[in-house]
Amino acid sequence: MKKIIRNGTIVTASDMYCADILIENERIIAIGENLDEHGAEKIDAKGCYVFPGGIDPHTHLEMPFGGTVSKDDFETGTIAAAFGGTTTVIDFCLTNKGEPLQKAIDAWHAKSKDKAVIDYSFHLMISELNEDVLNQLPSIMDKEGITSFKVFMAYKNVFQADDETLFKTLVMAKERGGLVMVHAENGDVIDYLVKEALEKGQTDPIYHALTRPPEAEGEATGRAAQLTGLAKSQLYVVHVSCAEAVEKIAEARNKGFDVWGETCPQYLALDQTYLEKPDFEGAKYVWSPPLREKWNQEVLWNALKNGQLQTLGSDQCSFDFVGQKDLGKGDFSKIPNGGPMIEDRVSILFSEGVKKGRITLNQFVDIMSTRIAKLFGLFPKKGTITVGADADIVIFDPEAERTISAKTHHMAVDYNAFEGMKVTGEAISVLSRGEFVIRDKKFVGKPGTGNYLKRARYNQILKPTDEKMTI
Ligand code: URP
Ligand code: ZN
Ligand code: ZN
Repeated sequence: MKKIIRNGTIVTASDMYCADILIENERIIAIGENLDEHGAEKIDAKGCYVFPGGIDPHTHLEMPFGGTVSKDDFETGTIAAAFGGTTTVIDFCLTNKGEPLQKAIDAWHAKSKDKAVIDYSFHLMISELNEDVLNQLPSIMDKEGITSFKVFMAYKNVFQADDETLFKTLVMAKERGGLVMVHAENGDVIDYLVKEALEKGQTDPIYHALTRPPEAEGEATGRAAQLTGLAKSQLYVVHVSCAEAVEKIAEARNKGFDVWGETCPQYLALDQTYLEKPDFEGAKYVWSPPLREKWNQEVLWNALKNGQLQTLGSDQCSFDFVGQKDLGKGDFSKIPNGGPMIEDRVSILFSEGVKKGRITLNQFVDIMSTRIAKLFGLFPKKGTITVGADADIVIFDPEAERTISAKTHHMAVDYNAFEGMKVTGEAISVLSRGEFVIRDKKFVGKPGTGNYLKRARYNQILKPTDEKMTI
């Protein structure tokens, strides 16, 4: 059945106007004033903004990490994402050295297929890049539509790859149209600092931050950016947390290097002092890179405003405080790294960003959706409101006020990092390919209805009507 959204204000990365949106067969088929309804179901968006669904480019759902598995899976994680106004997630598929890449991808399909309530796609981790891996990549790019590749410069003896692997990945991406993503921290230096701290008996959560200084992030970011320039390739730096890293990205972009940067809600709204909370509560705030001194927040906001950083990812990687984070009691290096962010990503950007005058409404849409669709080969099927695009639509009340709390959130974890924070703006209804997932703040979707998305190569544009782009 057709649907028509009326009376709302459509906001895209470039425009803002009042018009009706007509939806049929999963797509937007017309936008205009006083559209003929053709017997369509009417949806009243009076007083609301109508945005393209958010795209979260950085999630770790049901991911084995730090001796445990992240708590939110593709069901709870995507339900929470939808509540927050996100209609697509791109999750990181981990690989093991020496194992076929397809084996890792099949495992990721197996845990997402029957669970996701919104559309999803995968990035692929590159842990080594020998002839064997190189030979596997063409089919991964063509058949799976995976066109972005993640290299970890940190987590020594776990995920960390060496510079040779990073450089070869950049060269490969240049030749084949991929986008290289980096976790940019100097893992060797951090490993040294962590051992030194533990030897001195410095075991509390705060030492997680003190042993991963901003210089280690700035150095790795600059190194990755320089190697990108050398390879004439393209780079996306995930979870940028501090001024040192922003400076390196800005410097590279000024030189004309194709370097992009993502930050996350936690770095925009929380700071290093949270790691000092008593009774081990600081463990709730252990991310890598760590939360930084508060003044970095304005640097990150300014970078989003002036385009030095372009996107917001959640880096969703949630662990319960009781039973998971407490694995690190008495040794901060054993606290599983990561936190629950998928649900509040869009809210924080709107409330702290648009409402406080740090970014414009159009920038907000660009940062949480459109730019991400463009960088990761999903545009204009996803990431905008236009005729032919998937009807992934958020009806958003910009004046609604709520207090974030674990008591009311939809993530599977026992705490919320923004507990007690008041935010303005809320997703009221969310449609994924024309079907309600959230209706009047209630979940009405169904696990397994999310489609896996094959993505175009870097800088290639999808035709919105290209049926081949989903399986
Ligand atoms: O602490 C974090 N960021 N956990 C998730 C894994 C990663 O490094 O992105
Ligand atoms: Zn990371
Ligand atoms: Zn991450």
